[in-house]
Amino acid sequence: MPTLLHISASPLHEGSFSSRIADAFLASWRESNPGGTVDTINLWTEQLPAFDAEGATWKLKTMAGVAPSPEDAAVYARIRGVADRFLAADKYLISCPMWNFSVPYTLKHYIDVLVQPGLTYGFDPAKGFFGLVPDRPVQLVLTRGGSYAPGQQLAHLEFQRSYLEGVLGFIGLTDTRAIVMECTGYGPAVSDPLLAQASAEAAVAGQTF
Ligand SMILES: Cc1cc2nc3c(=O)[nH]c(=O)nc-3n(C[C@H](O)[C@H](O)[C@H](O)COP(=O)(O)O)c2cc1C
Repeated sequence: MPTLLHISASPLHEGSFSSRIADAFLASWRESNPGGTVDTINLWTEQLPAFDAEGATWKLKTMAGVAPSPEDAAVYARIRGVADRFLAADKYLISCPMWNFSVPYTLKHYIDVLVQPGLTYGFDPAKGFFGLVPDRPVQLVLTRGGSYAPGQQLAHLEFQRSYLEGVLGFIGLTDTRAIVMECTGYGPAVSDPLLAQASAEAAVAGQTF
């Protein structure tokens, strides 16, 4: 039975557009996968390991092929716990608001812990970089206060979807689909119908995911 890992990046609860769209997706996914399991990582309540000087040192040493020290073992164990939980999933749902043209810092923190040599990506002098995560489906649910459609003033600052697809592809996840709801900040007259539309799209997507 499949396990779906839901990584939730909005700090808002009932008011969150991305969470409401993700809920519609999950309701229909659960209906179509009665024996399936949903593992949820709420990035605002989850205690992620810090990724500081120790983590950065471990990563750079590992990349350079330097033998680990005994202190590195503890760092590795913390990182490994996060990667193991991620790798245990068969499918992924990432619900995420745009913050300052990219993703909230909690999701960036998660990515900084997860993207590690030997765990989620590899490097070979002949081949270059390659992902170590088996290519499993990823559903992105992305929300934004404004619009980043081609021709819009800030379209060139769209680093939310492009960043997520880029970094997921880097670790091996290329089968990525996205439901994008824009203009959440334009008031209910605009956002209510857009939310209904995105939720309906999510319910359909959840049936066959
Ligand atoms: C700290 C912060 C930064 C934001 N930055 C942007 C931004 O760069 N572009 C944008 O269109 N909306 C931005 N917004 C608006 C959110 O993307 C919008 O409210 C979205 O609906 C949030 O998703 P959520 O309702 O699931 O939390 C920002 C909101 C916050 C709180």
